Parts: sequence; structure tokens; C-alpha cells
Amino acid sequence: PGLTEEPYRTSDKNSFAYVSARDRWPVILTQAVDDVYKHRVDSEDSNHGPEGGKIIAKIAQLKFELQHNRLITPLEDDGGDDIRGYNEELDKLGNPKWFDAPWLFAECYLYRRLNTFFTNSETWKTHDVFHVRKAAAFRSSRAAVIELASKYRQIISSLENSGDPADTTDGAREEREKKLFTDMCEICLWGNATDLSLLTSLTYADIQQLQEHNAREEARKYILVNHADKVYDLLKKQRDEGKVGRIDIVLDNSGFELFVDFILGGYLLAAGFATEIIFHPKSLPWFVSDVLPGDFMSLINALRDPASYFDSPRDGRSADKVQETPLSDSQESDLKYLFSEWSELHTEGKFLLRPNRFWTTAASYWRLPSVAPQLFQDLKQSELVIFKGDLNYRKLTADAAWNPTTSFSKAIGELGRLGSGVRVLALRTCKADVVVGLDDEVDAELRSGDSEERKRKWAWTGKWAVIQFWDGKL
Ligand code: F6P
Ligand code: MG
Repeated sequence: PGLTEEPYRTSDKNSFAYVSARDRWPVILTQAVDDVYKHRVDSEDSNHGPEGGKIIAKIAQLKFELQHNRLITPLEDDGGDDIRGYNEELDKLGNPKWFDAPWLFAECYLYRRLNTFFTNSETWKTHDVFHVRKAAAFRSSRAAVIELASKYRQIISSLENSGDPADTTDGAREEREKKLFTDMCEICLWGNATDLSLLTSLTYADIQQLQEHNAREEARKYILVNHADKVYDLLKKQRDEGKVGRIDIVLDNSGFELFVDFILGGYLLAAGFATEIIFHPKSLPWFVSDVLPGDFMSLINALRDPASYFDSPRDGRSADKVQETPLSDSQESDLKYLFSEWSELHTEGKFLLRPNRFWTTAASYWRLPSVAPQLFQDLKQSELVIFKGDLNYRKLTADAAWNPTTSFSKAIGELGRLGSGVRVLALRTCKADVVVGLDDEVDAELRSGDSEERKRKWAWTGKWAVIQFWDGKL
């Protein structure tokens, strides 16, 4: 059946679409200008300067068009196969203005358009305009990274030594394992709360607070739907039957979120729930903080020499934020342990990166089978596909104005069919209007706490979350 609900639009003043287009996108574009400006000044390449100037002018033009509600213009060809798709879609939409377009399309277009300014240059082709901010944010996650490194090391060692007390019953062991599994899913979930595109003014203290252990315990009450148990039962059954296979993670943000994706991936392997983990990054700078293949390697490399990475001030961090005690020997050793574990998994082919241009089209995942049939076939080979984050959730649900009590399977279209072949697990902190699979009244109750009940503001901030599962192999 076709999509019955309308997508959120930038014209809808009650939606976060409108607020995003009006307030957030201009800031993101201004930050992109700053980045190009700084790189231009620092660069030794003589062509970099003049080309950088042209790029800045193009970004400024884009910002002007957005803020003056001009028509969204066709993308300039840069040789990418996806350009035609964007322009055909634009045509189908009747060439809308910035403030009267489907939110999902307009936002994806914004990042793709920004990217063409670089790809159509000679000397800036592969420049990641968000790189500096991504790296700085990961350094700010130092405290949580240290805490989780130690926890991860303990978990992996106890799994390797199958450290159950001899007198433990099967039931108790299973309960304990289920609790650990759920905990790992939740760590991975909350890693999504700290993305850069939304939290443009996040302070160092805010980031730390979101990531602490106690904060996670406290945060459990903000998970509106939690299917982690179901997923555990399934994976355990598969393991008991000797049917363990690959698990995929469709990545969202780099830095701390990617770090917790590695934690989850490493745990799934060590616990015998997966034989390999396939990570799906983006192919161009995307929604500010999303993972590019280079970010994947940067993270592993940061752990190679953690003292110099975490202890020395770089990337514009002001000196007052670095007044932390240097890493202790055991902290350094835990981080280096992660480096050796994860680089080995990568070398052995158990941590694999698999980019695909589909992830940076504007298509929702309702269209995955028709737009990217090979990718769809590939995902069917996986035992479980984990979709991280808000944008993936919006794409799963076609970013449409579903009634929040609509079932998750209905809202995800083809992927939610019986026998679709893909098992979908969404780990998402809510940063947009769309949300489904809620019990009656939950949305109404959350709205009623707000003075502007017509808006679903509770769902915009990353404070609430869902862990939702659909078994497409049934
Ligand atoms: O809602 C704010 C927003 O920036 C959306 O534009 C986008 O869907 C999302 O947040 C990005 O968040 P995430 O990194 O979790 O996909
Ligand atoms: Mg993101």
C-alpha cells in the first residue's frame, strides 16, 4: 500500500521543520563559511585561496535564497549519479520554494547542494566542511569515553573467560545477559542524543552530563517504547540454534556516537550474537556530524595514542576547557585496549565499512527496494539491521505526519511487511515531529505539559527516545 500520510513541510509553523529551516540551517551555513575561511587562510596551496572565495560566495548565495524564500533550484551537475534523482524529485514536487517544501527533501538537498560547491572545485573536492567540529566534539566526550572504555574492557574480558559463577542457573545467567544486552543497546541509543546539527550551542558540561552512567539510569524513563528484550530473545534463539550471522549498523553521527556503535558492535561479536558487523557510513559531509569513512579511521587512530589525543588542546578548544587531569595509566591502558581490539576486528574483516550513495539521497526508506534494489538485497543477508538516530528514523517512516499510535511496521512501508526479509531495529532519540508505535494518550499527555499543545515540541529535543523493532524475516 502507498503512503497515506503527508510528509512534514517547512511551511508548517507547528512543526520542527519550520524552526529548522528558519533558525538552524542559516547557522549551519554560516559555520560552513567560517570553516572554509579558516582553511583558506591556513592553506599553502595557491589555488585554495581563490577557489575558497568562490565557495564562500556560493554558500552565502544559498543562505540568501533560503532566508528570502526563493525557489529551490536544480543542483549543478558534479558527476554524481544522485544529482539526476535530486533534480527529478525537485521537478516532481513542482519546484517549491524553501519554505514550502517537504522537510526531508529540503534538508537533504541543502547538504547535497553544499557539497557540490566543493566537488565542483579543483582543490577542495574532498574537503569535509564539518570535520573540525566533529573532532572537537569527540574530545569533549572524554569523560564518558574513559568510563565506557573501562566498562567495555571488563565486559569483554568476562565474556572471554566465560566468567559465570559455577552455581549460576541457566535462568539467572539468561536474565543477567538480557540485562547486559539491554544496557548495551541503551548506551548506543543515548550516544545519539549528542549530535552536532541539533545541539548547536551545546556546552562541554551538557555533553558530559548526557553521557554519564547515572544519567543513563535516570534516562530510562524517557524511553517511550523499548523492544530491546525482543531483540535479545531473537538473537539468543539464533545463537542457540547455531544460526549466527552478520549484523549491520546504519550509522548516524561520528565521534561519541560512533564510539558507542563500536562498543555495541564489539559486544555483539564477543557475546556470540554476530559473526561480523557491517557499518554503513555516509559518502559526503552530511547533517553536520554524520560519519564519513575518514571519521571511522580517525576514531580508531585517536585511540592509538589517547594521551596525545585527549590531553593536548587542539581544534579551537579554548585553554580553560582543557584543565583536566592527564589520563591515568589505567585509563590510557583501557583506551589502548580498545585500539588494539577494534583495529584487529577491522583487520580481520569483522568490522567492515560499506558505503552506499543511497544513504545520501533524499529518498525515504519506503523507496529503498525500488531506488537501491542491490542494497535492499544486501540488507536481507543480514540477521539484523540497526538504524541509528533521528534522520534514519525519519527516513524509515517517510517523515510523514503519522498518528503516533500507528504501528511501527505500518509506518515503515515495504520494510515493515511480513516477510520483507529485513529485520529493522531503530535506536532513536527524538529530534523531529514524527513518532509512531506509542500507546494511546502518550503523545497527548506529553503535549499537554507544553503551553503550545499544537506543536509536538517534546519530540524535538533528543530528551525522549524509542527502541523499536520489526522482524521482517517472519
Ligand atoms: O531534528 C533536528 C535534526 O537536525 C534533523 O534535521 C535531523 O533529522 C536530525 O536532527 C539529525 O539528528 P541525527 O543525527 O540523530 O540523525
Ligand atoms: Mg546525524
